[in-house]
This record gives sequence, structure tokens and C-alpha cells, in this order.
Amino acid sequence: MSMTQKLLLSSYPNLKDIPGPVPSFPLGNLRDLSSQSIWKVSEDVSARYGPYALLWVLNQPVVFVHDPKAIDEILGAKSAAFFKDEPLAAMRPALRTDTAFTANGPEWQQLRRTSFLSESMMGEWLTSGFEPGLRFLRARIARDLPLRKGANLEAWLYRLVFDFNSQMWLGRTVSETAFGAYNKIMDAINVRLTTALPVLPPRFNHYKNIWYGALEEIVEQVRHEPDGHSMAHHLARHSHFTLADQVNHLSNAFPGGVWSVTAAIGDTLAHLCAQPRLLADLKAQLATATHSYETVVDPLEPSIRETFRHSAPVPTFMRRVKENPVTVGQVTLDGGVRVMIGVYPLHRSAAHWSEPETYRPERWTRQLLQENPYGSDYLFPFGRGPRACLGSDVALFQIRSILTALLGDPARRVSIDPVKDYSFYFGCRMPTGLRGSIA
Ligand code: HEM
Repeated sequence: MSMTQKLLLSSYPNLKDIPGPVPSFPLGNLRDLSSQSIWKVSEDVSARYGPYALLWVLNQPVVFVHDPKAIDEILGAKSAAFFKDEPLAAMRPALRTDTAFTANGPEWQQLRRTSFLSESMMGEWLTSGFEPGLRFLRARIARDLPLRKGANLEAWLYRLVFDFNSQMWLGRTVSETAFGAYNKIMDAINVRLTTALPVLPPRFNHYKNIWYGALEEIVEQVRHEPDGHSMAHHLARHSHFTLADQVNHLSNAFPGGVWSVTAAIGDTLAHLCAQPRLLADLKAQLATATHSYETVVDPLEPSIRETFRHSAPVPTFMRRVKENPVTVGQVTLDGGVRVMIGVYPLHRSAAHWSEPETYRPERWTRQLLQENPYGSDYLFPFGRGPRACLGSDVALFQIRSILTALLGDPARRVSIDPVKDYSFYFGCRMPTGLRGSIA
């Protein structure tokens, strides 16, 4: 053991047997961590060191955990021994109040319970919005067509998902100015997330005022529209939230899903377009199944489930041990230790999946679907346990709706080139440079 290792471990004695790359002074393993994307680091350390690997960011330890039992404990039975501090601090400036995503302890419990995403009517509200949503999407897509060969589908798809969110949450699309302001806010937060620096650009508050101002205007208008179906309409009719609360809740629903959903749809389309027979088969099934939400769920499930396994949009997430040491799986973690949970090593584990690197929706037989539900040992794209994604039903609804709108019309031609590269934006693994045509 090097002097640096001895020195670093002196504050974290329980970590001494966890393997990992040798840290150097004073950067620790920053070079290993920043040399490639975080999902590659997670796959790499899992292949080299096994289910637990210790890396250092300066003098701070990060333990990568890829043991299903330990992950289940961290996110489930022993979750009270951990808290979430990243990426909370980075996100806070974009918010007016904490959300279920950014809070901890009793405040988190309260926010999760009172979030409209937890409401019992959510499922019914989503399903009854399928047909109007599809009409919106078809008209919205037709407006932009044809998108000719080589078109930038990355920006187009993101905007489509954003507009669909606006339609669902607000009952209308927002102005170009509000959309631009939203993106400026998120770009600034993304810089904080990726650099861990507490920086903000000079006009940040200006953009924040534009975005929140636009939402305030819409929420005010919605109060005079008794028949609308959007969540803003629903909140105006049925909730006891103040106007300011409604705005905050609606605003918080945007960053939760716009990138992860865009990533999932982009990957699914690119994978399907690379396998024309599969695509033709799915299109044929959707062409006869688009009259209600229930009829599209089964035909789409294998492709969507395979995207979540093979190309999970959220590749890693973090926890920090509270003050006291805790034992999970085969390791004891000292208080204050950061834990990085990587999804890819398990979603692509050769011990669990056949041909794990290949995108193969056919693998999802009824039996495999039952054996690997969302939130299980080798498939947890929405996390696990009490802090699992609060918007997973919404995410699946949006993905199913947009794929149906694009692939359910036999006359529509969708062709997307294979994804060449991915970037890390707002905690998501985003297919970049998505090119193709839609006509
Ligand atoms: C493909 C789409 C999505 C994926 C892959 C995804 C993934 C995740 C994951 C992995 C977590 C847990 C992170 C952790 O344990 O630290 C999470 C949490 C969360 N997600 Fe999602 N998400 C998606 C879409 C959405 C949408 C559409 C919304 C809201 C409209 C949403 C709202 C939330 C919230 C509020 C939490 C925090 C829950 C809590 O801490 O109690 N997500 N998501």
C-alpha cells in the first residue's frame, strides 16, 4: 500500500480491503474518473475490480457498487443509513422550492407524498390522455415534415418531447422565449453538475424569471378554462395548492423526464431502424392497435424494455453514508462515504443475460418479463426502493405515445442512423448527433 493510500484511508479505515486503482497525490483517481464517460468508468471498474471498487476524488472516497444484494440494501432495507446530496446542491438554483428529487428525510417523505405524480388518479389521468395526446403528437409531427435525410433529429426529438410535456402539464406549448429560457437554466445547471463547481452565469436569474413568469401566466389562464385535461387544469380544479405552489410543481415536472425520455426514444428508434424486420413487425402491430393505451403497451414493451436494459438513460446514481458506518453486501462503508451505483454492469451482465451487448427485443418472452421487472436485481433503470423514480409511469406513457405517433401510421417513413456517440447531460446518457429522416 502506498503512502498516499495509507494517508487517505486513515479517515476511512473500513474501506481498506476494497480494491481499486492506485490513487496519486493530490488528485486521487480523478484521471481515471474523467478519462471516459461515467457509465464506461462504471463498466471498467466492475470488470477490473469486481462488485466493489474504491476510487478517490482528491481525498474523498467514492465506492462503486455493482453487487445486486448491496444495491438492494442501499436503496431499500438500509436506505435510512444513506442520504442523497448529489446532484441536489447543483440543481437547487433552478428551483423555487425543494422537490421530492432534491430533499431528504421527513421533508422528502412529505414532498413525495404530496407530489401530483404520487396521486392515485395519476394512472387514470394518463390513460384517458392517450388519444388526445396522440392527436396532439400527430399534428405536431406532421407540422415539421418532411425531415429529409441527414436531418438533425437530436434537437427535433428533444423539442417534440418538451412540447409533449408542455401539452400534458400545461395544456399548451410554451413560447419560444420560455423554451429558450428553460434551456439556458438547464445548461447552467448542467455545468454545475458536471464540474461540481458552484458557478452560475450572470443572466441566470433573468432566464429563471422568464421561465417561471411564463408558467405563472399559463396557470392563471388555466383557472378560467373549466374543461381542460392537463395537469395544470386538474390542479386548478382539485388541489388546495396556492398558485405559486402549482407553478413550482409543474415546473419541477420538466427536468425529471425531458432528457431521459428523449434518450430512451432516440435509442429505441435507432436500434429498431437498424433491424428493419423488427421495425416492420412492430409497425404492423401498432397499425392495428392504436385506439387505446392498453393496446399499444404489449407490442411496444419488448423494444422499450430492451432499451432500458441495453441503453439505460440514467447510467449511475449516488448516495452518501450518514454519520455512522453501515454494512451492505460484503463491505462496511464509513460515515460520509459516497456510493456510486452503476446500472450498466448489471444490465449487461453476461452472468445474467445472454448476448448482453446485443439489442434484442425478442429476448423479452413473457417469462423473462416476469423474472426481470423494473426495480429488480439486473434491471433497475428507474432505481429501486422508496426513492425509485416517481415519474416512471409518466415516462413509459410518453415513450409509448411518441413511438406510437411515429410508428403507428403505416404511411410514415422513419429512418434513423445508428447512434455513434453519447454525451452526459443532466445525469442522462444522451444519444448525440442523431441523424435520419422522417416523412
Ligand atoms: C426514461 C425516463 C426516466 C428515467 C430513466 C428515470 C430514472 C430515474 C432514476 C434512476 C431515479 C432514482 C435516482 C436515485 O435513486 O437517486 C429517478 C428519480 C426520480 N424521477 Fe425519474 N426517470 C425518468 C423519468 C422521469 C419523469 C418523466 C419524471 C417526472 C415527470 C421523473 C421524476 C423523478 C423524481 C421526482 C424522482 C425522485 C424520486 C425520489 O427521490 O423520491 N422521472 N428517476
